Amino acid sequence: MLTLCVFVSGRGSNLAALIEAIRLGRLDARIALVISNKAEAGALALARANAITALHLSPAQFTSEEAYSSSLLGLLEEHGVGLIVLAGYLKKIPAAVIQHYRHRILNIHPALLPAFGGKGMYGHHVHEAVLDYGCKVSGATVHIVDSDYDTGAPVLQQCVPVLEDDTPERLAARVLETEHEILPRAVQLFAEGRVWIEGRRVTILAKGGRE
Ligand code: GRF
Repeated sequence: MLTLCVFVSGRGSNLAALIEAIRLGRLDARIALVISNKAEAGALALARANAITALHLSPAQFTSEEAYSSSLLGLLEEHGVGLIVLAGYLKKIPAAVIQHYRHRILNIHPALLPAFGGKGMYGHHVHEAVLDYGCKVSGATVHIVDSDYDTGAPVLQQCVPVLEDDTPERLAARVLETEHEILPRAVQLFAEGRVWIEGRRVTILAKGGRE
């Protein structure tokens, strides 16, 4: 079974969606570990309430990036983690971890990348920018994580219409519902071995995989 580590920084509604999908039997995976750079993150409390090991670990606790990376890699190995999910994680994952888990780190972003992504494009900033631009659609993207913010290849994307009277809050709430659908679905595709990656092209294989 696929073993996950989920990185979080905030309230953890995407973590909740993963936990719920596992409970409902829609996601064939187990969450071995939740890591947050913020001690007070709601997501850590949520993990603990679900009997998942939850750790507060931030780069600031280490004297060098090397020490931070090797601590992370040690934890990931100790828990047998096969896939890392960034679910509202606002820090960069160190290069050594990205290298070790190449093509095995996913992020959820609340817009249709490559639009409205990159450093500083998180939370309400994204939805404000979408409305300010006058877009008619927004959406959510699950993508592979590479060394930059929001630049890795998309795995799943789903549109959400922008309504005439939208506010950033209302748009965010509708996009969030879509995030909660596509994140567990993308992780399940990995669990089923149905994700084929060639350069930036991610192909979803039919059930049963590539012959
Ligand atoms: C989500 O909108 C996600 O797309 C973004 O951060 C937010 C996290 O929300 N990366 P939550 O903590 O999962 O509720």
